[in-house]
Amino acid sequence: MTRKFVVGGNWKMNGDQGQAKQIIETLKSAQLDPNVEVVIGVPAIHLFLAKELAAGKLGIAAQNCWKVAKGAFTGEISPAMLKDAGIEWVILGHSERRTIFKESDELVAEKVSHALDEGLKVIACIGETLEEREAGKTEEVVFRQTKALVAAIGSRWSQVVLAYEPVWAIGTGKTASPQQAQDVHASLRNWLSSNASPDVAESVRIQYGGSVTATNAKELAACPDIDGFLVGGASLKPEFVDIVNANL
Ligand code: G3H
Repeated sequence: MTRKFVVGGNWKMNGDQGQAKQIIETLKSAQLDPNVEVVIGVPAIHLFLAKELAAGKLGIAAQNCWKVAKGAFTGEISPAMLKDAGIEWVILGHSERRTIFKESDELVAEKVSHALDEGLKVIACIGETLEEREAGKTEEVVFRQTKALVAAIGSRWSQVVLAYEPVWAIGTGKTASPQQAQDVHASLRNWLSSNASPDVAESVRIQYGGSVTATNAKELAACPDIDGFLVGGASLKPEFVDIVNANL
């Protein structure tokens, strides 16, 4: 089965309106590989602007949402509100949400489940810390995080992209080697075959995230189980175009 390459740009809490316009215009005027799906995750305040500027040429993602449709949850945005605003994607379970905002596997799973109920597409993030990797616990952690997702996703895997982002590689300039990333992606696919289904294992797209740049993207993209990237810092720069085009 061919899995369509999918590259996400996660702007995190960066960019004013002027920068948002500039980045989107750069992407729209670039020659992007037509075989790649591109999704940009923008701060909530820029969602409408990004949607309008992207004009259907780029997918737009929120970087978070809450687990119910409405109510007394000051500061939160619901999947129903994202849908109403014409937003199709949401990034959930990012390591910054898990560590800084103390989101547990269970909470991430609840959010994923509700976002899927509302018809959103989800980029669901998993990944181990340096301490966990050095303790030989990478698979244990990644499988535990994914297990919570499997239960939440049920049969809705076509709406989901997994993003493997080793926490030690995020924003550090220390990218996982292609072999390190490939090894985790392959064991994740193997685990999914037994714990979700062989079909899911074969069809789900697994992005790699963590200090992806125009320099290392080609080698990572050549790995058989890497189906795209979730890019932080470099998604704010013109080099994002080269990352999207890593397979050319
Ligand atoms: O969501 C993106 C990841 O956190 C990667 O960020 O490319 O700045 O390391 P980075």
